[in-house]
Amino acid sequence: MIFLLGFLRYLLFNSGFRPNLRMAINPLETLRFLTPAQAAAVRKNFGTPAFVYSEAALRRAAAACLAFPNAYGLTVRFAMKACPNAAVLRLFDSLGLHFDASSGWEVERALRAGLAPGKISLSTQELPENFDALLAKGILFNACSLSQLDRYGRQFPGTALGVRFNPGLGSGSTGKTNVGGPGSSFGIWHESLPDVHHLVANHRLTVARVHTHIGSGSDPVVWQRAAKLTLQLAREFPAATTINLGGGFKVGRMAYEKTTDLQKIGAPVKKLFEERARTSGAKLRLEIEPGTYLVALAGALVCTVQDIVSTGAKGHDFLKLDAGMTDILRPSLYGAQHPLVVVSTQKKPQIVAKTKEYLVVGHCCESGDLLTPAPGESETLRPRLLAEAAPGDLCVIEGAGAYCAGMSAKNYNSFPESPEVLLQKDGKLRLIRRRQTLEQIVQNEVEK
Ligand code: LLP
Repeated sequence: MIFLLGFLRYLLFNSGFRPNLRMAINPLETLRFLTPAQAAAVRKNFGTPAFVYSEAALRRAAAACLAFPNAYGLTVRFAMKACPNAAVLRLFDSLGLHFDASSGWEVERALRAGLAPGKISLSTQELPENFDALLAKGILFNACSLSQLDRYGRQFPGTALGVRFNPGLGSGSTGKTNVGGPGSSFGIWHESLPDVHHLVANHRLTVARVHTHIGSGSDPVVWQRAAKLTLQLAREFPAATTINLGGGFKVGRMAYEKTTDLQKIGAPVKKLFEERARTSGAKLRLEIEPGTYLVALAGALVCTVQDIVSTGAKGHDFLKLDAGMTDILRPSLYGAQHPLVVVSTQKKPQIVAKTKEYLVVGHCCESGDLLTPAPGESETLRPRLLAEAAPGDLCVIEGAGAYCAGMSAKNYNSFPESPEVLLQKDGKLRLIRRRQTLEQIVQNEVEK
């Protein structure tokens, strides 16, 4: 038997056959909404690196969220931290979306973009200094801790607010994006209900909205369990009119990943709302609060391959981009996977058929600035099969609409913040944020 296995192994490995398991789970990725010519036009007009967002894809994602199954009304709040550019906020505003802000600064940014205060809800880890002034403008507020509830109650006794709970379980694509359960500080722990009741009674408050958000890239099954727990919690607040179930809907950035089917995940939740109405008469409004789902697949970062180096036969071939953690931090932070597409510009812009394995790295003097980590393991190098590249070619990083332009290691190595461009419905490219200048990078330094 051992001989036989040994012989088979010999045959397999001397026949030149190499089962490429990596290829099986990691097929060549393709451009999602740009053509090779459009990617080249982005570089010609705005330089690289540059973020591009597809208006058509943003509209499609908004339409999918607005069709989320619901029994007694729906509000879709865009978690603006995912992509806070005013042009994106205004587009979503025009489509009927509301907004979730996670800091006082985000609230002010949304107001500056022209959004109505009544469409903005603040759920924050840190109350802003001008909290009272912002509330006086008419924004909504979810208390995310007992002390926040107390502070709100002291300032605005006798009024209505929302309360964010940690329902006791969470789920995220990685530990770093799981924000529920005993290991998470977000929201009021579900067993602290007596304290909530006490503060609510003391300040004569009305809990009008019950809120949970359990993580990003959540397992749909856990999300549904959390929805059930949230509805149970809401029974404690008979005056509640709205249940906010947060965001967290997973999207398939890579070809082998699946995007959450909102119809499928929402249908059983709609039934829970109907059941609740049958048993208590309360016809609750549903709120969802997606960030990722609304923007992730609608964005791409167009970069240039600025160098190619090799560490020899036993090492790796590296593509060095003119972007990196200064634009897209998710791979370095979470081991997040983003599609990478090499567009050859040696002749006309095109994707060449010849392929090669590369490690793709960013431009920072930091070995952690890696765009091809193993999934969920930011320190593990995982070569990727890509179209063969030459210096000067383009590399498009897909799935870069959420938590990239707005969540970067900005100005590290003094690289400027990259521009953002909207690919409009009419096919025109419109600049919606300029590239930062050196002057802007240093403008707040004090000389003497
Ligand atoms: N609502 C609240 C209260 C949140 O804290 C978040 C995300 C969302 C909604 C939107 O979650 P989403 O639909 O985007 O999963 N930076 C990470 C994700 C952490 C986001 C934290 N809060 C990422 O790059 O995936």
